[in-house]
Amino acid sequence: MIVAAPSITATLTVWSQEFDRRICERFDAVAGAPPELLQAMRHTVLAPGKRLRPFLTDRCFRLAGGDGDAILPVCIAVECLHAFTLIHDDLPAIDDGDVRRGRPCNHKVFGEGLAILAGDALLAYGLELASGAELSAARTVRIVQTLTRAIGPSGVIGGETTDIISEERPGDLKLASYIHEHKTAGLFRACCECGAIAAAADERVFNNLGAYGFHLGLAFQIADDLLDATASSEDTGKTSGGDAEKRKQSYPAIVGLEESHRLGEQAVARAVAALDDFGTEADELRSIAHFVMSRQR
Ligand code: IPE
Ligand code: IPE
Ligand code: MG
Ligand code: MG
Ligand code: MG
Repeated sequence: MIVAAPSITATLTVWSQEFDRRICERFDAVAGAPPELLQAMRHTVLAPGKRLRPFLTDRCFRLAGGDGDAILPVCIAVECLHAFTLIHDDLPAIDDGDVRRGRPCNHKVFGEGLAILAGDALLAYGLELASGAELSAARTVRIVQTLTRAIGPSGVIGGETTDIISEERPGDLKLASYIHEHKTAGLFRACCECGAIAAAADERVFNNLGAYGFHLGLAFQIADDLLDATASSEDTGKTSGGDAEKRKQSYPAIVGLEESHRLGEQAVARAVAALDDFGTEADELRSIAHFVMSRQR
């Protein structure tokens, strides 16, 4: 009997159900924080996201030879860091969003002060979780350093800075690449690298998985720009059309829809090529790369 492999979206959905249960448990155990702050943190981190980043961390860990639950705190950590970036990205001073993950944005529910603090708290808590992973001290330090760099001034925060200060400038593909590589691709790379580090992968596997994550992340942000330009807020679960309104350095604004698709597919091909050393055991990662450009939200 031939059994069809489940589609990658079905696999991701099943994985996310168990992962969401584990994040809930973790947030139930936070001690000493004001309930109002915890409520604001949960509003975004527990809302229905795709959980793509922690899934990548988990799958890269297993592909690099890791097994068991030691990776879980790192997976929860990357989702906390990602949720921090979403809350702050939506603030009135940044993208001024209304809807996120199908719910009103954090600041719309809790006010700007609490939203800023909930973002700060998720950043710090994510790093605390990663630092508590039951791995060797050397691997743990490397993971925390990788995540901190990916989020910091030369990472997401740097990319977000260039994003907002480049609004209304003439479209410039070099600038857009810089923004996309820093605000998005670098964190995808870090998620894959952390899986490899946790599994004590050799340098070649580490580099290949990192390159996969980076190109995947670039494709992901190009697809995100395309969705912002073409899909409705109801479909994406977040405020759509803001890139054109704010005259962002988005791929469709600079090179058009068709060329954006082509550049996105080129990045997917590069991500897939980075997996050439692996056999069928990397098929899930290959499927994710294709899913990223075809997704509807
Ligand atoms: C949104 O990321 C932010 C970007 C980098 C484009 P996702 O599209 O992964 O958001 P969730 O986690 O599914 O909500
Ligand atoms: C920001 O890119 C990515 C983050 C670092 C959160 P966007 O501003 O395009 O993300 P969305 O479309 O609001 O999710
Ligand atoms: Mg933004
Ligand atoms: Mg935004
Ligand atoms: Mg966007």
